[in-house]
Amino acid sequence: AEQNRLLKERILELKKERNAIILAHYYQRDEIQEVADFRGDSFLLAQKAAETDADVIVFCGVHFMGESAKILAPTKTVIIPDERAGCPMADMVNVEGLRALKKEHPNAKVVAYINTSAEVKSETDICCTSANARKVIESIDAEEIIWVPDKNLGDYVSKFTNKKMIIWEGYCNTHDMLTVKDVEEMKAAHPNAQFVVHPECRPEVVKLGDFVGSTTAIIKYCRESDCQEFIVGTEDGTGYQLRLDSPNKTFHFATKYLVCPNMKVNNLKKVVRCLETMQPEIYVAPEVAEKAKLSLERMLQVK
Ligand code: 13P
Ligand code: SF4
Repeated sequence: AEQNRLLKERILELKKERNAIILAHYYQRDEIQEVADFRGDSFLLAQKAAETDADVIVFCGVHFMGESAKILAPTKTVIIPDERAGCPMADMVNVEGLRALKKEHPNAKVVAYINTSAEVKSETDICCTSANARKVIESIDAEEIIWVPDKNLGDYVSKFTNKKMIIWEGYCNTHDMLTVKDVEEMKAAHPNAQFVVHPECRPEVVKLGDFVGSTTAIIKYCRESDCQEFIVGTEDGTGYQLRLDSPNKTFHFATKYLVCPNMKVNNLKKVVRCLETMQPEIYVAPEVAEKAKLSLERMLQVK
C-alpha cells in the first residue's frame, strides 16, 4: 500500500510535467483506475482521446486502444505502459484474410469492432464498439455486412437487423470461457441476483442475461436498477467502478476466470516508467492511419 501511494504520487508529478492525461479501461487493475483522469469502456476512451488538449496520452488498456487513440489524435504522443499488452481477439483477423473475404462479397460494407489492428481498420468502412454496435449496423446503407472479428458480438447484433451478416470467427478468450453451466450454478446460489452480461460472451450465455450491454452500459444498469444483487458476466476489473457507483449492492462475478491477462500486464510501476522514458510510444504508419481514421470517425459520428 505504501509503495502504491509513492508510485501514485510520482505519477501525478510526472503527469503535470508532461502535460499528460491517463486513460484507463475498466478492465485495468484497481490501482491504475484510481490514478486515471478518465475510466471508461473502449468507446468512451476513444472519444476522450479524440477530444483531449493534453500533449501526451497514457493509454492503460491493450494495444489496439492505444493505436485508436493515436489515429484519432495524431499530433499527440501516445504512450502505453507495456507493449506486450495485446488483444488476442484483435489478432484473430489480419489484412490478407479480410481482403480475401471482401473479394468474395464485393457489395458488402465492412464493420470492424474497435478490437482490431490499425491495419485492419484501414480496410474497413466503419468501426464500432459493443456500446454502439446496433446503431452502427443500422446506419449502414448496404444489405450485406462483413463483420470482424467477434463472432459472439456479431451473433448478438445480427438478431436486431435484417441485413445479411458475414461473420468472422474471432472471439475473446476471456468472455468466451463463460459457460451456461457456470451461470446456472451462480443463479442457483444467488436466486435474487440479476445476471448482467457482455455480448462478447457466447450466444447461449448472452441469452440468459437479464441485461446485455457494454461495460459502461452494465455499470449504468446496475447503478440505476432497483435490484440489489448481480451476477456479472464481464471482466473482473469492472468491479472497481461497479462498487464505486453502487457501494451498497452486491456483485458476484460469474466465475473467477473472467480476467483478461493482457489487461493485467499493466501496473503502476510501468505507468511511472513510461511517463519517465516516454516509451513505448505508439506509432501508426501515416497511410494506414489516414484510412483507419475515416473508419473511426464515422463511428464517432453515429448518433
Ligand atoms: P468494451 O470496452 O467496449 O465494453 O469492450 C470490452 C473489451 O473486451 C475491451 O477489450
Ligand atoms: Fe481482448 Fe477480451 Fe482482453 Fe478485451 S477482454 S482485451 S477483447 S482478450
